[in-house]
Amino acid sequence: MLTRLTQLEEEARSAIDSARDMQDLQAVRVRFLGKKGEITALLRSMGQLPPEQRPEFGRRANGLRDLLEQLLGEKEKELKEKEAADRWERERIDVTLPGYPVPLGRKHPLTLVTEDIKEIFTGLGFQVARGPELESDYYNFEALNMPPEHPARDMQDSFYVAPQFLLRTHTSPVQIRTMELLHPRLPVRIIAPGKVYRRDDDATHSPMFHQVEGLAVDRGITLADLKGTLLLFAREMFGPEKRIRLRPSFFPFTEPSAEVDISCINCDGEGCRVCGFTGWLEILGAGMVHPRVLQVCGYDPEDVTGFAFGMGVERIAMLKYGVNDLRLFFSNDLRFLKQFR
Ligand code: PHE
Repeated sequence: MLTRLTQLEEEARSAIDSARDMQDLQAVRVRFLGKKGEITALLRSMGQLPPEQRPEFGRRANGLRDLLEQLLGEKEKELKEKEAADRWERERIDVTLPGYPVPLGRKHPLTLVTEDIKEIFTGLGFQVARGPELESDYYNFEALNMPPEHPARDMQDSFYVAPQFLLRTHTSPVQIRTMELLHPRLPVRIIAPGKVYRRDDDATHSPMFHQVEGLAVDRGITLADLKGTLLLFAREMFGPEKRIRLRPSFFPFTEPSAEVDISCINCDGEGCRVCGFTGWLEILGAGMVHPRVLQVCGYDPEDVTGFAFGMGVERIAMLKYGVNDLRLFFSNDLRFLKQFR
């Protein structure tokens, strides 16, 4: 039986050695130390030995049990460490890896140009005003000296949503709303950027587009103030060498009225394909505020005068960036939109 003890030690050592995980190790423990395990069985059969051998055998058997407990403990510690190390390897996060790129958008070219325009005019003391896109016939036409049946309404084919309401065809109604609000205070100096709508759709016209309105009202404002303001704008926007030209025109709400051109940004007046060989590019409509418009807004046209202008943001952006199809602004093609900052 003593030999059997030595055998068991050998067997147990090799079983513990080859255990690959905690489950294996638990099986080994049961096999040798469990209630029905080998060592337990051996101790039970101790009665078969002659009495004088029993103490010696008992000591050896208990010694073996202690040894196995110790070996199992050591192996358990080793396995647990290995498991933790494996898991660390499997699950560890490399914090030095570069992160996922977060794509950042950019401002739309029309937003950029609108911001440029605002910057220039706020620098001259203009404040930014706004008005609704759904407008009444009164603000969009009538107060601007275009009574019903006035032929000038035909110039701006409109989207009516009800008999007296339409999508505004220009930003000029903000002139009226601003003066109604401010009168009789002076001076009035505002620009009004925003969307406008007309029944037009081709490479140079979109049913929705953007304008920036300008309005200055005070005592003693003259056409020279309009011209100086617009010249400064043209130079800030397109370059310090730019010249402007006022051509007589007609708007019901200004008198006199003008179309304003800048010297061609491509040929500087020589004549080229961009300017249709005229040397000039039309950029906006303008004029001196019509006395009747001042009057309906509560200002005395004998006391004050004013100038107004309205420019198309798309047109300015096309000239500034050399874009030849207006529809690119609205087709949401990132290859186009990514080119502007
Ligand atoms: N509202 C005019 C248009 O849309 C432009 C304009 C504004 C002209 C102010 C004169 C004064 O065509």
